[in-house]
Amino acid sequence: MSKVSRTPLTARRGGALRGEALAPGDKSISHRALILGAMTVGETRISGLLEAGDILNTAKAMRQFGAEVTRVGVGEWLVWGTGVGGWGQPEADLDFGNSGTGSRLVMGAMATTPISAVFTGDESLRKRPMRRVLEPLTNFGATYEAGAGGLMPVTLHGTDRPICIDYEVTVASAQVKSALLLAALGAPGLTRITQRALTRDHTEHMLRAFGADVRVEPLQDGGERICVMGEVELRPGRIVVPRDPSSAAFLVVAALIVPGSEVFIPGVLLNPRRTGLIETLLQMGADISIADRRESGGEDTGDLLVRHSELRGIEVPPERAPSLIDEYPILAIAAANAGGSTAMRGLEELRLKESDRLLAIVHGLRACGVQVEELEDGMMIHGCSGGLPGGATIGTHMDHRIAMSFLVAGLASRAPVTVDDVSMIATSFPEFEPLMRSVGAQLS
Ligand code: S3P
Repeated sequence: MSKVSRTPLTARRGGALRGEALAPGDKSISHRALILGAMTVGETRISGLLEAGDILNTAKAMRQFGAEVTRVGVGEWLVWGTGVGGWGQPEADLDFGNSGTGSRLVMGAMATTPISAVFTGDESLRKRPMRRVLEPLTNFGATYEAGAGGLMPVTLHGTDRPICIDYEVTVASAQVKSALLLAALGAPGLTRITQRALTRDHTEHMLRAFGADVRVEPLQDGGERICVMGEVELRPGRIVVPRDPSSAAFLVVAALIVPGSEVFIPGVLLNPRRTGLIETLLQMGADISIADRRESGGEDTGDLLVRHSELRGIEVPPERAPSLIDEYPILAIAAANAGGSTAMRGLEELRLKESDRLLAIVHGLRACGVQVEELEDGMMIHGCSGGLPGGATIGTHMDHRIAMSFLVAGLASRAPVTVDDVSMIATSFPEFEPLMRSVGAQLS
């Protein structure tokens, strides 16, 4: 099991942030590229893969199932898979470290293959709910044993006689939906998955790129039904991973709140189901221009130019939550710097991330001198109009996004902000510190 030592870091106010910054590859797409590559016979070439802890753990798991996964250059990876249903029995436990996405997607991908595996992770992952994925997977015929409360370590037994399912996902989770779509590949015939919330759709996009038959029907209530044909032979291909908007978010908000800043962030993924933060910041008065919108690897991308802006508080529509679910911590920092109050609701899922993010944000902002009300399903932040007091040490609770968000807060605070541990940042954004420094951030 993963163990990491604590490394604190302090961010302080300095000059304007300026220059060009390259965000790392998208985490969601990187996981999916490795997993689908491993479910395909033949060579899949991946460019721009995120080389961060979470993804390296998924790569290791794919090797444990028998795929050949090779790094041939910076962000350049080759995967030779063993086909749908072709994964072999892993000899050791699968350790996914901090990654909910890696572990849950892989549970789905192996559920319709007759092998068993033990899934485990670090202290944070071992507190996160797994039944949301495991229970629906039993409908395909898989069985499992989990710890009390459905926690890891989990032993999953894939089935040798999978059946197709018609299932409605009740949680607003792309991970659950994706796990079921990946499991459906091994079941004979058509599987139908219905979801009311429009969560990120990278699995659907990538399945099509690998030659699977995936159809999406919009439903009258705003949800959708995804139909996928099982027992397919996937076609190996070439995946170009766009840059992660959830990582670019830290650069975007830093540029918005540090006076005089102007930062250019090229090639960012702009899938409409991932652009909730940009939409919200624009509504708050942010100066963000998007240029050269283009398609890259089947996904929308574009270049962002972000300039310091006087932000104002707004009410964030709760139905927007799935499209900015990972961005609430950094949105909270933008809201704390804005004039007026920002209300965020519909955030139940935020309590189930790498930490209880709702609580971590509320406590962190209060420690920085910001007035915040914690609501059962969200929070109300009373902004400081650019005058964030700061001067606190923040508990990051093994949560990379809490760590990065409060370091960004420190760049615009009157007194420095220290985060108690930056080691988890490497799970999603190993270049965060040097990249922030390269545009002028004061981190020490
Ligand atoms: C992800 C889905 C989201 C998100 C996570 C990545 C994915 O989780 O928070 O960082 O790649 O499918 P949920 O499915 O739990 O909402």
